[in-house]
Amino acid sequence: MRKATAIIKSGGIIAFPTETVYGLGADAFNPLAVARIFEAKSRPLFDPLIVHIADLSQIGQVAVGIDKRAGRLAGRFWPGPLTLVLPRHERVPGIVTAGLDTVAVRMPDHLIALDLIRGSGTPIAAPSANRFGYISPTKAAHVLEQLGDRVDMIIDGGSCSVGVESTIIRLTDERNLILRHGGIPAEEIEAVIGPVVVAAEPAAAPEAPGRLPSHYSPSIPVHLADSIREIDFTRPGAGFLLFRRPDFDVPLERTEILSLDGDLKEAAANLFSSLHRLDRMGLEVIIAEPVPERGLGIAIMDRLRRAAYKKPGGPEKAL
Ligand code: TXA
Ligand code: MG
Repeated sequence: MRKATAIIKSGGIIAFPTETVYGLGADAFNPLAVARIFEAKSRPLFDPLIVHIADLSQIGQVAVGIDKRAGRLAGRFWPGPLTLVLPRHERVPGIVTAGLDTVAVRMPDHLIALDLIRGSGTPIAAPSANRFGYISPTKAAHVLEQLGDRVDMIIDGGSCSVGVESTIIRLTDERNLILRHGGIPAEEIEAVIGPVVVAAEPAAAPEAPGRLPSHYSPSIPVHLADSIREIDFTRPGAGFLLFRRPDFDVPLERTEILSLDGDLKEAAANLFSSLHRLDRMGLEVIIAEPVPERGLGIAIMDRLRRAAYKKPGGPEKAL
């Protein structure tokens, strides 16, 4: 940790665990360090980063206009998988927010992440620690594979407990606008601040590229089946991503089961590692069973649809 905080203070970039996915962090107030994150990920500069804080007192360093709703959500869900988009403090470098007048802030629920932020003495800007558009990392080994030669350090904190990214909500006008489904289900947010609106899919320059139609993609195509009954388990070269244990035999060596008993929380925690494993098996296609769209199932289906997205008229493989 001493080494890690020294790296952050001197403008380096570090992959670290959070409860959602691994992040790739830099001092949020050091634009050159933040630029290295974009370079390492091959991430387009129009895609803003989330600023991670360890203490509520830090929110005032990066955001202004922190209203009652923000206070109540932070009080209820922080530390935890919820990101608030708020009016930006002028001190936050433009590269962090992609020139927007808003900033995304969250307090992760992970001791290593919190220690890193506290020890570095600065909020840490961090996207997920994957190459742009590829499957998010939920283990240190996933980061090593994708970015090992491009980062100054990887802190191994084991597997991420939540396994899907934070829910993002924008609170810059009277609406409670959900920009990305994630670790906190929308209905839990509604119970605290009232009705939410879910943002429509973006057109060209999206406000949250986690909402680009193709994202979270393995290197082989993903096909999202309508139901398990539709899946042809004899198809050669196919791997299978199932929500729960089926009541018939399946080729276990090519099958990942997200949760034997069909528990959505467990399924979310296993989602990205299962995709990583199938992606590494030399298969031609991954066929996925849908999960029920309630609670965390909404965030899981969001990731599966984007992983399965095919460009209209384009090659079958997601780019
Ligand atoms: O759980 C998470 O949120 C993880 C961990 C590492 O904290 N981080 C993460 O970061 O998922 P990333 O960069 O993969 O996704 C952040 C999303 C992007 O889609 C980005 O466009 C959106 O947050 N975002 C960041 N700042 C924003 C802003 N000011 N307005 C709207 N969207 C914003
Ligand atoms: Mg990401």
